[in-house]
Amino acid sequence: MARLNDHYLKLAAGYLFPEISRRVGEFADANPKANLIKLGIGDVVLPLASSVRQAMHDAIDEMATAEGFRGYGPSEGYDFLREAIVQNDFASRGVQIDPSEVYASDGSKCDSANIQEIFATDATLAVTDPVYPVYVDTNVMAGRTGGADSGGRYARIEYLPCTEENSFLPALPERPVDLVYLCSPNNPTGVVTPRDELQKWVDWARANDAIILFDAAYERFISEDLPHSIFEIDGARECAIEFRSFSKTAGFTGIRCAYIVIPEELKGRGSNGEQASVAQLWRRRTNTKFNGISYPVQRGAEAIYSEEGRKEVQANIDYYTANAGLILEGLSKAGLKTFGGVNAPYVWLKTPDGLDSWQFFDQLLERANVVGTPGSGFGAHGEGYFRLSAFGLREQVEEAIDRIAKNLG
Ligand code: MLT
Repeated sequence: MARLNDHYLKLAAGYLFPEISRRVGEFADANPKANLIKLGIGDVVLPLASSVRQAMHDAIDEMATAEGFRGYGPSEGYDFLREAIVQNDFASRGVQIDPSEVYASDGSKCDSANIQEIFATDATLAVTDPVYPVYVDTNVMAGRTGGADSGGRYARIEYLPCTEENSFLPALPERPVDLVYLCSPNNPTGVVTPRDELQKWVDWARANDAIILFDAAYERFISEDLPHSIFEIDGARECAIEFRSFSKTAGFTGIRCAYIVIPEELKGRGSNGEQASVAQLWRRRTNTKFNGISYPVQRGAEAIYSEEGRKEVQANIDYYTANAGLILEGLSKAGLKTFGGVNAPYVWLKTPDGLDSWQFFDQLLERANVVGTPGSGFGAHGEGYFRLSAFGLREQVEEAIDRIAKNLG
């Protein structure tokens, strides 16, 4: 029999969202008449912006001509997209990034999963708790952790609790680590890390030769005066990598386009003690394992920066943000304690009546026919909390709030 990767065998549970789908599927089979409202996985529902659709159509038509046909593109992405990204996502906020520091990809899930490959197999890491499970599971798969304890926590990972007491902003690690994953606006808590906190992280990372892996996939939902990028913080170019995505920004969950920014100054060290450029290793990895995202998709992504695209994207963000506002208001009126949801498409709530996260999940599913995400699926400190996504159609969101309010207790 073929030998398996023992590290995969350490994985404590199935991946969160398929597990939710499995449970919801069982419920739907047993209750075929139930009208389920799904506010679990953060998946967009509004149709693709017309500027994006048009740009993708045009790109296909272009490729159907002898002059316009394209085969393999650059694995890091076409220059037109990388330039549009630096102008619109960074220069517009006073952040200098060179287009060559941007690597287009097919998703932030893949990027945040793959980045660990270029670090030592015994590199140490810290994650927040609760946390987007991809950061943890991919390090388990790579053999960077020991086994899981009964609470699902893996040995050799430093978990940084995010609790109501610390306003869901984690303390710095107690011991030096090589890598720390931060996500802001946070999935799942919906909390944004303010500038002074981010500065603290950057100063710590520089003092400890650590690298911050900064997931900003939800930055477009920030409406208050808060940092959108870690590169708005002094010194971040020497200690950070940033992940951005078109998925939630522009409805690309099914189209697939994202990018990573790796500054040229960022260095790591080999076991021989010599420094090397992190970007150089990422390029090497990308060139070996990836042939880039398709030309029509990159043209579609570029279109979100056109005048029309910008308006369309903003209208969709406003729509989801208004949903989040309705969820916050409705749940507060119903007596639930809520967090996030202002600069993020996720509302994090404390489960009522001492129910644990999965008990509340079952209660909402069975009584209100509403699907959310149990907080414990994001880590031990998520226990007793629950996440609702604002990515739903307005009437469904309103109906869900109504049903939740009527079916509490
Ligand atoms: C979520 O619901 O947490 C996200 O949709 C998952 C993802 O983006 O992979």
